[in-house]
Amino acid sequence: MKLDVVISPAVLEKHDMQGRVCIVIDVLRATSTITVALAAGAGAVRPCLSIEEARAAASQDPHSLLGGEEMGTLIPGFDLGNSPFEYMKARTVRGRTICFYTTNGSGAIRNAYERSGRDVYIGSLLNLSAVVSQITQDAALNPEAITVLCSGRSGKLSAEDMYCAGLVVNGLAVSCREAGRVVEYTDSAAVAAAFASSKSNKSLEVIRGSEHGRYLESLGFARDLEFASRIDTYDIVPVFNGSLITRMAPRS
Ligand code: MLT
Repeated sequence: MKLDVVISPAVLEKHDMQGRVCIVIDVLRATSTITVALAAGAGAVRPCLSIEEARAAASQDPHSLLGGEEMGTLIPGFDLGNSPFEYMKARTVRGRTICFYTTNGSGAIRNAYERSGRDVYIGSLLNLSAVVSQITQDAALNPEAITVLCSGRSGKLSAEDMYCAGLVVNGLAVSCREAGRVVEYTDSAAVAAAFASSKSNKSLEVIRGSEHGRYLESLGFARDLEFASRIDTYDIVPVFNGSLITRMAPRS
């Protein structure tokens, strides 16, 4: 099994993605928030490439909600921002499609689908083990190569995404070895794995120390950092099929 980590969408074209199983990560906060929204009963999340695209999609569906952020804060006219706490109330999100635009995360998800040509998994610390076990135990998937795409921050690496990517790589490697498979790392996968191992059980420290963590804290979102640092809070696997992200049915 070949394991690769893309440190940000800015270097995507340097990586061979075609046909690969891909997991997109944006710990702060897009993929954490998507996980929470689906866990709270949202019907689907539609990741958009621009605010205009999100508005246009929402205008086609009167039952949808507009969600996301620009510079970390609520976009004028949107129903919800990008704090996971805004998506926790079932009465707000149940059955709704959320037309979702965020600075880095929603575009990374769309890019991953474009470049891999197959369904994309949505990962975060909140649903880490659920995603790892879905990918390694789904016999139909049986991947030869897996890419973890970090959404990063304006094209740059972000520590919290690298940390989560490293935990994903370590989890995948353990499962693959248990299944008797040989694991091969790219350099970026090996560095992410080593970073995660060096900060074992220190997710909040990594998140608080990160550039985006400090920025969000300055905006008053400190509790989002603490929440996004919780590992395995949810047992759900969101999957993007090219138009919508929905919650994958649990394995029987
Ligand atoms: C993004 O997609 O850039 C983030 O989710 C930004 C944020 O923290 O809201």
